[in-house]
Amino acid sequence: MRLILLGPPGAGKGTQAAFLAREYGILKLSTGDMLRSAAQAGDEFGENLRQVMSSGGLVADSIIIDIIRKEVSGDGCAKGFILDGFPRTVVQAQALDTMLEEIQCGLDSVIELVVDHDALVERISGRFSCDGCGEGYHDSYKPLKKEGICDVCGGVHFTRREDDNAQTVAKRLRAYQEQTAPLLPYYEKKHMLRQVDGMLPMQQVEERIREILAHL
Ligand code: AP5
Repeated sequence: MRLILLGPPGAGKGTQAAFLAREYGILKLSTGDMLRSAAQAGDEFGENLRQVMSSGGLVADSIIIDIIRKEVSGDGCAKGFILDGFPRTVVQAQALDTMLEEIQCGLDSVIELVVDHDALVERISGRFSCDGCGEGYHDSYKPLKKEGICDVCGGVHFTRREDDNAQTVAKRLRAYQEQTAPLLPYYEKKHMLRQVDGMLPMQQVEERIREILAHL
């Protein structure tokens, strides 16, 4: 199964990608996670990435396309993949089409998570994750079961993302409208786009996605 999850910052792409990876045993390719990990390397390249991401802009297409090309052609993708955060521009979508043609694979579906603007800001501002295992949480929507302790690995250290502040979020939302939203008509023309109400509680969003995938 080869899927793309589309939607603005905070729509729930990472949350649903993690669910799909567990449920269907397919690889989750999150460009945001890959870039954040590359940004921690402490070299000049990492520092440049960190600056672009913390400004709310998009990293250059050529960098992202190279990263994804290596992943998509690797063995880990043989069973399929979920793309979370890629493509984000029409140039990236066209590059993905070419990569998939080269390995003679097709996309199965592009799922857009539709969420109101105000809810996006609230979701992003309440988000944090475990430093140990990366499990994502939210102050209101997915709180820790035990104060200060990760439900999954028992870790006690948590991080809030550097780009999750009000000013950067506004820029990320603008970048989405200007550069990523044009992908919706791009995939609609290919009859691949399916919309899911991302305002529903997480488990209901999972259920809607399961229904779409059952019909593929
Ligand atoms: P990236 O990491 O991809 O961030 P994003 O697209 O801004 O998306 P988010 O991770 O903020 O949100 P999400 O949709 O995954 O929501 P989540 O599941 O966490 O990219 C970061 C940066 O990297 C970009 O700004 C750019 O600079 C760069 N970049 C990445 N890819 C790139 C590319 N291809 N090209 C160029 N640059 C690139 O959910 C949010 C919160 O809401 C969580 O706390 C969650 O618990 C909660 N939540 C989730 N679902 C629900 C629900 N149904 N109800 C209530 N709460 C919910």
